[in-house]
Amino acid sequence: MSASSPSFSLSCTRLSFVQISFFLVVWYFSCGCPQGVNAASSVKVGNLSKVEDAVFFHIYYGQTFKVVKNAIDGKSYLLIQNSSRMAARTKYCTTRIKSFVIPLANYSVDTDYFPVSFFELLGLLGSLKGITSDSVASECVLKSYEGGEIELINKNEPQQLTQFAAHFIGNTDQVQACNFATFLPSAEDSPLQRAEWIKYLGVFANVEARANQVYDTVKANYLCLTKVSANRTVSFKPTVAWMEYSNGVWSLTKETYKLKFVEDAGGENVDSSINKVTYNISNPDDLDEFHAILCIVDVLIDETYTSDPVGYNLSTFIQNIGIEDYSCIAFLANQSLWRYDKRIRNSTTLDWFDGARSQPQLVLADLVEALFPTGNYTTTYLRNLAKEEGVISINPDMCHRDVTAAMEPTTIDCA
Ligand SMILES: *[C@@H]1O[C@H](CO)[C@@H](O)[C@H](O)[C@H]1NC(C)=O
Ligand SMILES: *[C@@H]1O[C@H](CO)[C@@H](O)[C@H](O)[C@H]1NC(C)=O
Ligand SMILES: *[C@@H]1O[C@H](CO)[C@@H](O)[C@H](O)[C@H]1NC(C)=O
Ligand SMILES: *[C@@H]1O[C@H](CO)[C@@H](O)[C@H](O)[C@H]1NC(C)=O
Ligand SMILES: *[C@@H]1O[C@H](CO)[C@@H](O)[C@H](O)[C@H]1NC(C)=O
Ligand SMILES: *[C@@H]1O[C@H](CO)[C@@H](O)[C@H](O)[C@H]1NC(C)=O
Ligand SMILES: *[C@@H]1O[C@H](CO)[C@@H](O)[C@H](O)[C@H]1NC(C)=O
Ligand SMILES: *[C@@H]1O[C@H](CO)[C@@H](O)[C@H](O)[C@H]1NC(C)=O
Ligand SMILES: *[C@@H]1O[C@H](CO)[C@@H](O)[C@H](O)[C@H]1NC(C)=O
Repeated sequence: MSASSPSFSLSCTRLSFVQISFFLVVWYFSCGCPQGVNAASSVKVGNLSKVEDAVFFHIYYGQTFKVVKNAIDGKSYLLIQNSSRMAARTKYCTTRIKSFVIPLANYSVDTDYFPVSFFELLGLLGSLKGITSDSVASECVLKSYEGGEIELINKNEPQQLTQFAAHFIGNTDQVQACNFATFLPSAEDSPLQRAEWIKYLGVFANVEARANQVYDTVKANYLCLTKVSANRTVSFKPTVAWMEYSNGVWSLTKETYKLKFVEDAGGENVDSSINKVTYNISNPDDLDEFHAILCIVDVLIDETYTSDPVGYNLSTFIQNIGIEDYSCIAFLANQSLWRYDKRIRNSTTLDWFDGARSQPQLVLADLVEALFPTGNYTTTYLRNLAKEEGVISINPDMCHRDVTAAMEPTTIDCA
């Protein structure tokens, strides 16, 4: 076995006793003998995914199986190649371990909090057969649904959720049947770590090569944009705040990935210097402090939730801040007030939580335009509220590619 042989990665991985026992059981069924592991390698190097940046999932390769471990919810998925003898005789379904025969013949998706764009980039929409609602921020999934390729399944009818080889879900707070698999990229702290979860889905369909290629492309483009931003000569980095309003209170975001986006775009986060994060505008002291922040910030991203993004305009924002005199507010004078609800479906589903997750280089490019406006770049996810930029309503007619073909990641000019 050559040093670079990828046939088994156990040796270089630290495993707990439980994990090892699990592997041994699996190993036994997979080849029945340790020599079998060395005997031949049906898996080629380019077909393995190696996790580089993400911290909350791990992939292990065996001869006829793979194991994906999700470190957020502690689930392990034993993925057994359909051509192996183990496929017919091994089935796990415990609270911690589940088995799937791969490549998945078909799958369904719980559309709540699930970024389907990862599947699109992998070219796997052809085997998506069920969705729990049509509130999906993907024109091509909608087109496929409209064309009858995907059926609507009822979340409250358990038997409808178990008819496919796998049912992917984006949260952990529901009862899970044997075919359920969780997908939790948003647990990661950085935009690239989140995007790398494409490899997690790739293993279910033996499309590691594609997953690696997409991630490499996204990462290279993201890092290139970051480098250009870092090189930008400006007298002062623009100060950026992400803020949301709810029930009379404005708050600054603490979400790490958003702060990272700002740093990578060449901006500075207001948060690092301010400890207080919530401001009750009915409280005069709070209002004063809030007013001061608004006067400090160069670019504001208004994250305020609304059930009506179409109707959320500059007047709504002005009304929400509750300040009469906004002469000091630079981001208004300079028209640097943004929201991330530019691409929406049915007013309720934002592509910010879908496409923006799998292609963070597009978000970074949007932010660079927000921070250093050229007026020459059309943003994808951010809309300029100060310029009364409206929303784009996603519909099936906007899908112009073969739904079953892989979507190409968009790379931004980076020179
Ligand atoms: C590995 O990936 C290559 C390129 O996508 C593909 O041609 C080949 O069939 C794959 N091999 C296996 C064993 O899946
Ligand atoms: C295994 O999956 C491949 C790809 O979907 C399919 O062509 C093949 O028929 C399957 N083999 C078995 C034994 O199910
Ligand atoms: C999905 O795949 C499973 C095999 O895993 C098969 O039993 C089932 O009939 C398929 N369902 C559809 C709708 O294709
Ligand atoms: C960054 O700036 C340095 C010095 O001005 C230059 O040599 C280098 O090519 C720049 N790098 C990028 C990625 O623009
Ligand atoms: C904000 O302050 C007002 C007046 O002090 C108070 O009535 C209200 O409950 C506060 N709101 C929140 C969400 O704390
Ligand atoms: C903003 O929205 C409100 C209500 O949706 C509407 O009455 C108002 O005309 C809008 N303002 C602008 C400038 O479009
Ligand atoms: C407005 O933005 C420009 C750069 O686009 C900057 O030079 C200027 O200082 C800003 N003005 C204010 C009032 O922040
Ligand atoms: C979403 O909008 C479409 C088209 O307007 C409509 O047919 C569908 O019922 C809506 N779905 C939901 C969940 O509101
Ligand atoms: C705008 O973009 C186009 C194409 O990228 C480029 O050719 C042009 O020089 C740009 N104009 C400005 C003012 O930056």
